[in-house]
Amino acid sequence: MTKNGGVDDKGRQLGAVFGGIASRYDLANHVLSCGVDFCWRRTAVVMAAPGTGDRLLDMCCGTGDFAFAFARGCADTGRITGCDFSPEMIELAGTKESRFKRRGKYAAVDMDWQVCDCTATEFESESFDIVSCAFGVRNMADLSAGLKEMHRLLRPGGGVCILEFSLPKNAVIRAAYLPYFRWILPVLGGLISGDYGAYRYLAESVRRWDRQVYLGSELHKAGFREVVARPLTFGIATVHVGHKPHTLNS
Ligand SMILES: C[S@@+](CC[C@H](N)C(=O)[O-])C[C@H]1O[C@@H](n2cnc3c(N)ncnc32)[C@H](O)[C@@H]1O
Repeated sequence: MTKNGGVDDKGRQLGAVFGGIASRYDLANHVLSCGVDFCWRRTAVVMAAPGTGDRLLDMCCGTGDFAFAFARGCADTGRITGCDFSPEMIELAGTKESRFKRRGKYAAVDMDWQVCDCTATEFESESFDIVSCAFGVRNMADLSAGLKEMHRLLRPGGGVCILEFSLPKNAVIRAAYLPYFRWILPVLGGLISGDYGAYRYLAESVRRWDRQVYLGSELHKAGFREVVARPLTFGIATVHVGHKPHTLNS
């Protein structure tokens, strides 16, 4: 684990919230989504279409599940770097990598994990072919800074891939889903992780995000083009992919 750039007070606070649930985070994720989160990550990797030798940065990597999904999806990936401002999450990602590699998984993929604020990293400009982020942009204190940082770090022609929660657009499905989301998820998440506040935050942040942010246009504003959005599982989650143009005019 290395440290890349600084983490400010707000970052430290949010990092502490995620750090507090880190050891139960994976279990809570898989139970609350009934395991569908694996399929979402797999679909997002297919949409991002990593190629041989690609250098990938997974922002807000948490315990590394999206980074591992990329390693599974493209065994010839050049290098995968995961970064997150929670040292506890980063430590777990490193432990999982060692466990996988002892079992012979992802042996050929070079991986490293760094503690940093993803909205202001110290990586060199244009040093990645793909920048990914799962369930992270919603939590960024400054979304536009985060998206601009993704753009800065990508080589021209490189791709961004963002997986994030959303709410179903279909009124019937939404009416059935919202009570689960509002009442059951925080209780179940609290029981599993021991932190009810963190899962109340999750439910509230998704509702706020869905009301206030249109990610496609935010990606455009940050300079990405050919942006495609694909809703998953009735729109409970959405993958956005886009590209950094080769020239300023394209
Ligand atoms: C909901 S978790 C997602 C983890 C992982 N990507 C996944 O798919 O399970 C969100 C993560 O984003 C991190 N995070 C939020 N804002 C961040 C920022 N500005 N810089 C670095 N990490 C951030 C949190 O520490 C947390 O680990």
